[in-house]
Amino acid sequence: MAIEYFRHAHHHTDRSDMDPNDPYHSDDDGTSSDTSEDVIEVPQDEIPDYFQERDGRLFHSHGSSPYPLPVDAEEHQRQNGLNTLLRRLIGDLFVGPVRELLAFAPGEQRRVVDLGTGTGQWVLDMAREFPHVRFHGVDIVPIATRYPPHNVRFEMHNIMEPFWYANGSVDFVHARSISMAIRDYRALLQEVGRILRRGGLFVSIEWGRFPAMEDGSDVAIRAPRAYAFFSAIRETLRVRRGIEPIASSIPRFLEETRQFTDIQTQRFQAPIGEWPTDPARKEMGREFREMMILYANSMKAVLQEGPFTLLADALVEGYIRDISSVPGIVSTCFTVHARRV
Ligand SMILES: C[S@@+](CC[C@H](N)C(=O)[O-])C[C@H]1O[C@@H](n2cnc3c(N)ncnc32)[C@H](O)[C@@H]1O
Repeated sequence: MAIEYFRHAHHHTDRSDMDPNDPYHSDDDGTSSDTSEDVIEVPQDEIPDYFQERDGRLFHSHGSSPYPLPVDAEEHQRQNGLNTLLRRLIGDLFVGPVRELLAFAPGEQRRVVDLGTGTGQWVLDMAREFPHVRFHGVDIVPIATRYPPHNVRFEMHNIMEPFWYANGSVDFVHARSISMAIRDYRALLQEVGRILRRGGLFVSIEWGRFPAMEDGSDVAIRAPRAYAFFSAIRETLRVRRGIEPIASSIPRFLEETRQFTDIQTQRFQAPIGEWPTDPARKEMGREFREMMILYANSMKAVLQEGPFTLLADALVEGYIRDISSVPGIVSTCFTVHARRV
């Protein structure tokens, strides 16, 4: 049975034999590398190698990615639920001039790359809306559908390493919720700058790893258990995995590359819990709390790595209690879009 997953011909867990001067990574002729013989379909019997089980949950098996969350059914539910919620929060599947950029142009093949695509729901939604555009969903684990539509390809790749797309061959790079997938976001942006064509678009969407109060009051006082949970998460990610909270720094990183212009940022606040009076926001808050409960349970495994091992259960329980009882808690979503100069 054909499985429509692709990876580099070198095995994903052993990239040490890759030659950084390989023309594959630096070809400058603007052609698509889709057809390269180095990209092969993932054999079905290889799929289990991409996963490992710990304490009854399934994780990626990639040695070098710091990404700490599971990749099992609960996590799929969380990713897909957040995909829908974000669309309502932001008002669309994206921010920025995406429609103009991806408009049908005779004789031109528009190309979009989604980094850390996960279940691929964003790519699938986009592919339906832009059937003339080619989408590439990139992840280190094969958790997206194996039977994508004609204009979608899911690819196994570690985004901490150079991409296999040619210079200037991509119109739009989308990176959502990948701040735990990489340690060096600046290096990633260099690579994004390399593959984007002039005028191409980069969009980042990241959740801040801290709770806040909608009225601006001090969350440490109003919701101390939610505050403690996120403080422990941030500290654990930093000391155990080398992951820093970078959501609000991405615009500065983009500026520092000198490869991007027209850098525009927005912040959206999502309610957690059923406290809003507006019915649509109330429903959003109810659903968002469900997603945050899934998140907290997934994060328990991270907290158990230390230094809060013994407090992991209590921190998760306390957080769930706060978001179920304290009105006004919100989560902040940072969006950025920028043009390749
Ligand atoms: C929080 S999920 C976000 C999924 C999707 N972008 C979305 O917004 O629904 C992060 C994804 O990044 C992937 N990931 C983690 N480390 C990665 C790496 N080094 N290279 C590629 N993907 C990675 C994970 O497997 C996971 O599917």
